[in-house]
Amino acid sequence: MDKQGSIQGNGSERIFLFDSTLRDGEQTPGARLSHEEKIEVARQLGRLGVDIIEAGFPVSSPGEKQAVQEIARQVKGPAICALARAVPGDIDEAWEAIKDAENPRLHVFLGASDIHMQHKHKADPKILLDQAVSAVKYARQFTTNIEYSPEDATRAREEYLYELIEAVIKAGATTINIPDTVGYAVPEEFGAMIRRLKEKIPGMDKTILSVHCHNDLGMAVTNSLEAIKNGARQVECNINGIGERAGNAALEEIAVALRIRQNYFSYHTNLNFQEIYRTSRLVSKLTGIAVPSNKAVVGLNAFAHSSGIHQDGVLKNKETYEIIDAGLIGGTAAQMCLTARSGRHAVLDQLNKLGFFLDDQQLEVIYNHFVNLADKKKEIYPEDLEALVLDHLSATEPLYKLDYLQTVSGSKSIPAAVIRLIKEDGNKIEEMAVGSGPIDAAYNAINKITGMPITLEKYAINAVTHGRDALGEVQVNMAYQDRTITGRGTSTDIIEASVKAYLNGLNKLLKINGSDLISNHEQTKLATS
Ligand code: KIV
Ligand code: ZN
Repeated sequence: MDKQGSIQGNGSERIFLFDSTLRDGEQTPGARLSHEEKIEVARQLGRLGVDIIEAGFPVSSPGEKQAVQEIARQVKGPAICALARAVPGDIDEAWEAIKDAENPRLHVFLGASDIHMQHKHKADPKILLDQAVSAVKYARQFTTNIEYSPEDATRAREEYLYELIEAVIKAGATTINIPDTVGYAVPEEFGAMIRRLKEKIPGMDKTILSVHCHNDLGMAVTNSLEAIKNGARQVECNINGIGERAGNAALEEIAVALRIRQNYFSYHTNLNFQEIYRTSRLVSKLTGIAVPSNKAVVGLNAFAHSSGIHQDGVLKNKETYEIIDAGLIGGTAAQMCLTARSGRHAVLDQLNKLGFFLDDQQLEVIYNHFVNLADKKKEIYPEDLEALVLDHLSATEPLYKLDYLQTVSGSKSIPAAVIRLIKEDGNKIEEMAVGSGPIDAAYNAINKITGMPITLEKYAINAVTHGRDALGEVQVNMAYQDRTITGRGTSTDIIEASVKAYLNGLNKLLKINGSDLISNHEQTKLATS
């Protein structure tokens, strides 16, 4: 019964999630993924629990075919689908690529609107209908799991769609996908069209009706939800809504909307919601396509509250201004971005989250500095607050200062660094280390000096001025035990900027946590100079 849309105990029907991040998503300008990256994304989609992964378009290149093949062999759980135009050569390549999957699916498509048939295919509708039928019959020799898409369906003549879809179902298609290829549809009209196709086409009741919505008018998710209400049982969508032009319907938005508003929709998916945030970040990191901060469900600000009234309300009871718990999607706890309107309650709460427990007097000092800063800088993030505490509540000098730095690197030498630091008591400590590059070597040398095996979680460098002598600003995210900290450093020498950033982070870490973090190891490292 599942293949036709199972009914859950609570009476809600199952919606199949067809993820095309690796096919339509990878068509996003600039979003090329390497072979290994595609496999990493596919594995994560498996953990996320999507029902079908469209792994690629194998005929497009030998590399694409190989990646689809690897995914088909390695990723268990979801059906693995490959795209093919309605020609035998494409179908052969697609089948070759997916035949080792647990549950392979062939996805065949051909233009169906007059615009596509006249200008792209330059062929008569009847001839193209026969081609579609032949292609499905051809695919049928390999598998019974065949999806057919009449491309540009929302601009096609509906009478032609009836005839075409009935014929491809007779030829063996088991999923009929209605693509809104150019994002032309509007919800009510699209929903009504889906209902008519479902009701009028003989054989439709034995297939899964699917939709594939693009976002050119910003309605891809709404159109998909409207289609579900009108009989679609599969939705094609991409992580973070990436895809051709303005993208495709965002998978996470559809799934979370169905979940949060189940009282309205009464449909369910088998998604593992806890993996949504991780998947979103992975896709963003590997494709290089940033998630807009105001993006629904996974944007940085989706759980941030800026106005004082909202922050106060959320601290009293999250439900006042939050309908999605960040925990549902495996995101971090609700994040507050403080502003000039934030009250003491919100500032104190954020300080506690950062590990600072201030008395009333200290809070007053920090709150006054916070208000001054918030007047100049609209949004105050945790790092800003942390800097305020370090600047105003700690009069002490940095624990470690850079005294001397020398690095060696080159195509034929092992990267190495010698570092000498001065401790606040005036002692000098020197260490030498090797690494995968001069910066790694320098960081290893600092770790040797402090005896603290700090790990580097993120490294970013930016030119903050222009020209070849530009100042480079390095930002590092460092982790030690259960704390993470950000360090920043600038210099015209990027290795020095990197070392300064690391020391900045290290000093913050030690100031916040006290010198108990320093192991005895460094006591024995008094320098010779
Ligand atoms: O947008 C589209 O029409 C497609 C088809 C291949 C389904 O991506
Ligand atoms: Zn598409």
